[in-house]
Amino acid sequence: NMAAADGEFYIDQNRRNLMNLILVGSAAVTVGGLAVPYILFFLPPSAGGGGAGISAKDALGNDLFEKEYLTTHRVGDHSLAQGLKGDATYLIVKEDGTLEDFGLNAVCTHLGCVVPWSAPNNKFMCPCHGSQYSATGAVVRGPAPLPLALAHRTTDEAGTIIFSPWTETDFRTEGKPWWM
Ligand code: FES
Repeated sequence: NMAAADGEFYIDQNRRNLMNLILVGSAAVTVGGLAVPYILFFLPPSAGGGGAGISAKDALGNDLFEKEYLTTHRVGDHSLAQGLKGDATYLIVKEDGTLEDFGLNAVCTHLGCVVPWSAPNNKFMCPCHGSQYSATGAVVRGPAPLPLALAHRTTDEAGTIIFSPWTETDFRTEGKPWWM
């Protein structure tokens, strides 16, 4: 029916617009939204050992390095990087100026919009249907049924920011991680 079709269009459009925001810099202008899935598809898989960990990447696919990152991302910053499976994942700068040891998958667990961080509200607030998540990604308002997916966030010996799968208990629900 028409209402459903409109809704889907809105979600696609919204997600595309937000994904464009991830593509920082002038390249975003020329690349355009439709190319995003191809970029994510062609990203090289993780190099080297360390299990399933991958380096966090910027919009152009370049590895992110902690020291450099923290010179441009200040206390309280919540910015998107490319994480596991190419999913947009929040890197969070804590009050002490260091990186949070988890990343939050930005994909809304309701219908998949990318959820923006709202600093004034100290929450992630989904523009699509109003779901809200706490600073740690716990659901504080539906319709989202589940918390934002977690990833471990570490830094390797070369200073590269690394995401790896979170397979342990979800500390927000104290249950099994729903994304595994
Ligand atoms: Fe529906 Fe986020 S996609 S609230």
